[in-house]
Amino acid sequence: MVIVAPSMLSADFSKLGDELKHITEAGADWAHLDVMDGMFVPNITIGPLVIEALRPHSDIVFDVHLMIQDPIRYVDQFSSAGADYITVHVEADGDIDGAIKRIRELGKHPGISLNPDTPVSAIEPFLDKVDLVLVMTVQPGFGGQKFRENGPEKISEIRRMADATGRKILISVDGGINRDTGRRCHEAGVDVLAAGSYLFKQKDMAAEIAIWKEF
Ligand code: DX5
Ligand code: ZN
Repeated sequence: MVIVAPSMLSADFSKLGDELKHITEAGADWAHLDVMDGMFVPNITIGPLVIEALRPHSDIVFDVHLMIQDPIRYVDQFSSAGADYITVHVEADGDIDGAIKRIRELGKHPGISLNPDTPVSAIEPFLDKVDLVLVMTVQPGFGGQKFRENGPEKISEIRRMADATGRKILISVDGGINRDTGRRCHEAGVDVLAAGSYLFKQKDMAAEIAIWKEF
């Protein structure tokens, strides 16, 4: 069954604790938490302090997506703040291999993410070290953008590569996910659907999540 990870980027930031409870009660499996530094991407969002403040509000899995340069500087802080999965970008500056190793040492699940224009081959060297591959289907930085159509093909290719390792690697997709694109990504082999604007604009998020779990 698909794992549904609403992206808190589309929540009302003035009441993030309540919004986290809302997605938990709606049947979300994970909370997708977008961290942006104004350098790797043009936008700035939240840091470890906000994640730490959210942690007591739900037992849901915290899926932390680091859109930051030189991420190794901050993985210890995000781990202490309560992250379960910590995903870094293959395009980011700094020691990405070291960041993944450190996330593992901290007892958390490391993930690697790639942008829409980054070839699948870029993540190949990391496949035997990560628990998650996050496929971006928009250029990261902002919610509400249009799904990039090369997503499902990349997902199929990564599915084959991940399965060939013999290890359990989850594939997640992020950007422009709605009922239609989510279903297509699931058919291509995705395990996790991270979705912001589409899920948060639903009057009945629980009903929508229930439909996704029937894919
Ligand atoms: C974008 C973020 C996404 C964002 C997706 O850079 O990584 O997680 O919340 O938003 P939607 O689902 O609206 O494309
Ligand atoms: Zn994200």
